[in-house]
Amino acid sequence: MKFIIHLFVLELFILSNTCNVTATVLSKNYDKVNLETPKKNHYCSPMDAILSRQSVRDYTSEPVATEQVSMILKAGFAAPSAMGSRPWHFLAIDDRTVLGNLAGLHSYAGMLRLAPFAVLICGDRSLEVIADKFEQNCSAATENILIAATALGLGSVWVGIYPDEGLMKKFREALNIPEKIFPFAIVPIGYPKKSLSPRESYIPERVHMNRW
Ligand SMILES: Cc1cc2nc3c(=O)[nH]c(=O)nc-3n(C[C@H](O)[C@H](O)[C@H](O)COP(=O)(O)O)c2cc1C
Repeated sequence: MKFIIHLFVLELFILSNTCNVTATVLSKNYDKVNLETPKKNHYCSPMDAILSRQSVRDYTSEPVATEQVSMILKAGFAAPSAMGSRPWHFLAIDDRTVLGNLAGLHSYAGMLRLAPFAVLICGDRSLEVIADKFEQNCSAATENILIAATALGLGSVWVGIYPDEGLMKKFREALNIPEKIFPFAIVPIGYPKKSLSPRESYIPERVHMNRW
């Protein structure tokens, strides 16, 4: 009996630490989506999302819901940027043919063939207030997108494009991106085949208190 109670408590713990969300139909009106939907109840806590985030490269065929796409894009724009320049463009991609074509451009992006959705994070250097902060600004937006996806019960992975000139050229050509825009990273997003739980990655020897 004690063993069964122990199992039940363990199951409750696991359930409370995973981020499962039910999908609805995808549409393109991401800016007009009412975020006060019941889906809000499915958010993970910020710490659970951060600690659960991991690269997910295998997805179910379930589409990503409009509300979730909207929140993911808002999370991208909410990232910090040098002098608040927010020098980003985000390409939201849900066309299966386009996703399949993009998979063929990149040696490590085969998961785009399975993903129902992806965000391409692009940097626009002409919008930067301080030069040479391009990588940091785009990295911050990319990480926000990964965390937001995790918080919504979705799986995602950072697929690097910048600074590979050849890859950037291929993505520009495939997606009609202007020459001055830098395709930085693409993040495939979909429902993970396995639910995500917080992982232990703390390295005590690399934490220095007050001085090295
Ligand atoms: C700059 C950068 C580029 C990456 N590029 C790829 C990639 O091209 N393909 C891929 O599958 N994963 C890519 N990743 C994901 C890493 O492989 C992954 O984050 C790493 O193995 C750690 O695993 P985790 O994300 O599960 O913690 C990239 C990550 C970063 C930060």
